Amino acid sequence: MARRSLALGSGSYLPARILTNAELAERVDTTDEWIQARTGIKQRHIAAAGEKTSDLAIHAANAAMAAAGVTGADIDLIVLATATPDNTFPSTATTVQAAIGMHGGAAFDLQAVCSGFIFALATADNFIRAGQCQKALVIGAETFSRILDWEDRGTCVLFGDGAGALVLGAGEGEGVDAPGILSTHLHSDGRYRDMLYVDGGPSATQTVGYLRMEGREVFKHAVANLSNVVIEALEANGLEADAIDWLVPHQANQRIIAGAAKKLKMNLDRVVMTVDRHANTSAASVPLALDEAVRDGRIKRGDLLLLEAMGGGFTWGASLLRW
Ligand code: UT7
Repeated sequence: MARRSLALGSGSYLPARILTNAELAERVDTTDEWIQARTGIKQRHIAAAGEKTSDLAIHAANAAMAAAGVTGADIDLIVLATATPDNTFPSTATTVQAAIGMHGGAAFDLQAVCSGFIFALATADNFIRAGQCQKALVIGAETFSRILDWEDRGTCVLFGDGAGALVLGAGEGEGVDAPGILSTHLHSDGRYRDMLYVDGGPSATQTVGYLRMEGREVFKHAVANLSNVVIEALEANGLEADAIDWLVPHQANQRIIAGAAKKLKMNLDRVVMTVDRHANTSAASVPLALDEAVRDGRIKRGDLLLLEAMGGGFTWGASLLRW
């Protein structure tokens, strides 16, 4: 029997404040119709003044630990994916570590923008497989509202704030029918860094900066790269798309998600969709979608999940997980 990572429980958190498309249309030259037709987004959640990425992450982590039946003392690894940390350092993960009463092990941040959760999941999975940890907290948490140029209609309508978390535990299993992470697949291509970036940072400008994006170019690459990585994940496990019970995609744009589902010949009723209510929450979107579908009973123990994401860098990745 091979050592593998089991999904013990998920959690998520959204800030209370909801910002609608109609409210945005009062700030920039846009309409509810345009936003919904082009992206599927109806609203997004926005962190309150003073509410930090770590605050969102702690709520999600506590919910995930409660679902998994563990406490902070049981966790020996935190991998927190974020592109919007509280501070340049220390890591947001160490802030979460202190808050949940985890005093041993290791906690660190990981940065792969919108693919961050898949990258964090792969990292924690490899730590567990290598025998270097027993229980890992994998978190995606973002406050993208803090890095949006609220005068740029091409980007400010697309993003929201939130956090999601998953507790992984070391277990054993063999083959695609046994529970746990079957495989993870990561890619990046730095030649495309200028397609989606933040125009500030501690070393480059000594400012925080704003998100900048060539939306149409990112869209094209997202559809192509996600199709490829999804096929790679299935082939690596000798599976066909019809084996997947739920597609849990990164929630950037309903049209990108529908494109990936079409490629897999999957009906949209097997796709977890939250982009309409959450918008793009970057590294938080996959665990937010996962947790929603677990809690409302759509995802059941034994279901095969395909998680996928694509983001700045470019970065992209996928994972097959038997829940
Ligand atoms: O999570 C990380 C990955 N990010 C993504 O996956 C985002 C990928 N990109 C997208 O989702 C889409 O490209 C967008 C939603 C960003 C844009 O949709 P699009 O269909 O690619 O539109 P476009 O950029 O080609 O713009 C079409 C028109 C332009 O006007 P002109 O040049 O045709 O006159 C834009 O100026 O829509 C205009 N436009 C808007 N109009 C109203 C751009 N933003 C807005 C807006 N409201 N908010």
